[in-house]
Amino acid sequence: MATTSLPPTSMQFSVLDRYLKNYSRLEGWFWPDSIAIWDSLLSFQKSAGVAGHFLEIGVYLGKSAVLSTLHSRDNEACILVDAIIQKDLRPTIDSIKPSNVIYAQMRSTDMLHSGALAKHPANFRWIHIDGEHTGMAVINDLNIANTLLNDDGVMIVDDFFNPQYPQITAAVFDWLRVHPIELTLFLIGDNKGYLCRPRSTHSYLLYVKDSLFDDMVARDRPNVSIWKTTRAADMNTFGITPRFGNFNYIGPDWNKKIIEI
Ligand SMILES: C[S@@+](CC[C@H](N)C(=O)[O-])C[C@H]1O[C@@H](n2cnc3c(N)ncnc32)[C@H](O)[C@@H]1O
Repeated sequence: MATTSLPPTSMQFSVLDRYLKNYSRLEGWFWPDSIAIWDSLLSFQKSAGVAGHFLEIGVYLGKSAVLSTLHSRDNEACILVDAIIQKDLRPTIDSIKPSNVIYAQMRSTDMLHSGALAKHPANFRWIHIDGEHTGMAVINDLNIANTLLNDDGVMIVDDFFNPQYPQITAAVFDWLRVHPIELTLFLIGDNKGYLCRPRSTHSYLLYVKDSLFDDMVARDRPNVSIWKTTRAADMNTFGITPRFGNFNYIGPDWNKKIIEI
């Protein structure tokens, strides 16, 4: 996997522009910093030649799924799973991807036995877990996502570090403790945790360290700071927060200028 992103061009922003113009007012739970983080990471995947299918568990009206779907290539399937598929979801997604989308109305606990994934090999590059917010459901959804994510993909867990749903954060760390070499948490921010395979951890960490801040600025979200406050062996995870002081990047308390990955 390549480790640099392309410089922003108007071509690259055509997806984001289309999203902001036509879909950002959809009702849902997907905020401006996350929109910019997703668009940055998906653009990075594009520049690095990463390919694979897309899965979202917990779609509602598609506020987040629309942005990832806009980034999908024609031959990449988008699988949208929700306990209740809203009637307005299909027309919204049809307007951007008329084929190669599967709408699976089911609880995610039924996914493995339903055949919903039968036609798609375990080759997914973008998986968003935003369904039932219990610890049990998150463990179930992580287990499913772990069977599907490819070596270069990103898995996102919603409401990570949200005090309203502490069970989600606990479930993710419990899962990681039992599966220490299957996924790594490389970024936390704006309510979401971002995980990838160990094979691509360094590429994503390097991308966050070298490019994410600039890519946020280029997407008109400059009021953020990106934290990496300890040594790699202690915790190799970045955090992105609302702007702190004059810092683009903030290192450990003992030397805020050092960003070690
Ligand atoms: C917070 S909303 C998703 C928000 C959406 N991603 C967005 O961008 O606005 C949670 C969704 O998960 C669905 N859901 C709840 N429990 C579920 C389960 N066990 N399996 C699948 N979907 C579930 C709900 O029907 C609801 O549409």
